[in-house]
Amino acid sequence: MAIRTILHYPDPKLREKAQPVERVTPEISKLIDDMAETMYAAPGVGLAATQIGEPHRIFIIDIASEEEPSDLRVFINPEIVVRDGTQMWEEGCLSFPGATEEIKRAERVTVRALDRDGKTFELQADGLLAVAIQHENDHLDGVLMIDHVGPLKKRLMARKVQKHGERRASR
Ligand code: NI
Repeated sequence: MAIRTILHYPDPKLREKAQPVERVTPEISKLIDDMAETMYAAPGVGLAATQIGEPHRIFIIDIASEEEPSDLRVFINPEIVVRDGTQMWEEGCLSFPGATEEIKRAERVTVRALDRDGKTFELQADGLLAVAIQHENDHLDGVLMIDHVGPLKKRLMARKVQKHGERRASR
C-alpha cells in the first residue's frame, strides 16, 4: 500500500470523467488499498479515484467517528438511482484544503454499486452518508463542490485553496 498524492483544485485532472471498471483485477484492488491509506492519512471521510489522478469509477467513504471502529465502504461503478428531499451540509474536500462550504444536496439517496469483491449491492443512505455519496459520485464525473456554489463563493473558495498552497510551499 502507498499513500498517493491528492490533487488540489484547479488541477485539470480533477475534471476528467472516470471510466467504468470492467473487472476487479489485482491492480484495481491495489488502487483501492492505496485510496484507503491515502484517505486515512489525510485524514478525510471520502476519496474518489480521480482525486489521485486515476480515472476509474471508484470512490471510498468512511464516516465513522474517531471513537468508532473504522467502517470503510467501497463503491465501484456507482449509480445513484434515487434522490429524495434536500439538505444543507457544510462540506469539505481533500482537493480543496482549507475551504468548506454549505452545499445543497438530496436528503436521501439510493446507490447501486459493486463492492471490492465485484458483487453488486444497493444502499439507502441519508444525512452525512448521503452527502458523502453525492460528493464523491460527483468527482467521478469531474464535478467539484465549487460547481455547487455561486460566483462570489467560487472566487473565495479558489482563493482559500491558493492561500493554503502558498502557506504550505513557504514552510
Ligand atoms: Ni471531494
